[in-house]
Amino acid sequence: MSANTKEIKRVTTNTLQEMKRKKQKISMLTAYDFTMAKIIDGAGTDIILVGDSASNVMAGHETTLPITLDQMIYHAASVIRATNRSLVVVDLPFGSYQGNSKEALNSSIRIMKEAGAHSVKLEGGKEIVDSIERILSAGIPVMGHLGLTPQSIYKFGTYNVRAKEQLEAKKLLEDALALQAAGVFAIVLEKIPAALGKEIAKKLKIPIIGIGAGRHVDGQVLVSHDMFGMNNEFSPRFLRRYLNLHDLMSKATKNYIKDVQSGDFPNEKEQY
Ligand code: KIV
Repeated sequence: MSANTKEIKRVTTNTLQEMKRKKQKISMLTAYDFTMAKIIDGAGTDIILVGDSASNVMAGHETTLPITLDQMIYHAASVIRATNRSLVVVDLPFGSYQGNSKEALNSSIRIMKEAGAHSVKLEGGKEIVDSIERILSAGIPVMGHLGLTPQSIYKFGTYNVRAKEQLEAKKLLEDALALQAAGVFAIVLEKIPAALGKEIAKKLKIPIIGIGAGRHVDGQVLVSHDMFGMNNEFSPRFLRRYLNLHDLMSKATKNYIKDVQSGDFPNEKEQY
């Protein structure tokens, strides 16, 4: 290593545990391709999630259900090639783990082996504890996901806030404790009341990462295309847009078309 090359330390599950202990907030964003992952990793994001939201964002499906394990592996491998610092978590897609714990383990092994991922994420509570334990027994770190779990959208029938009622809130807390006992290294809580997010983050020893779970959890995750404002049709209350890339890219595209049509592009300096 040359004297002026700064060594970049990879975030691990231990780093995240230490961050929770020191009350340092954890940043997490999605990425599905090499170029986006390079920017997000280079900026210092702690965790990159290769989410099954690729089904919506990259492929244009209405839900996360259609994306396949092969497609997730393709996205994950592209992301892994771009990262030096972030811990990369990859979603097990719908249909690749619900059958039984052996199926869950086989799908996780494919993600680790073929994409070079660092960990996997599964949606669900007590009902998937067997699968989580089997994946962990192979040395694969697991992240949980509770609350509004998009793979169950047809069960919920709506994208509204979950666990507003006491019974569902109690079940969610029990599920979070069961996932922690099984050994997950962190849990994503999606679209639940902030007070419940706070209670769970306080009761659990592992990091709790929220998306629409309020400010008192241990970290935040957003879908990067939403955060960059590439999509101006999706505006949930929990989303903060840091750019309006949709308008910037639209304007740039219109300018390009204008220059091509007028013959202004390419000019003398832009040709061989
Ligand atoms: O797939 C995804 O992007 C996710 C986040 C919403 C947490 O699971």
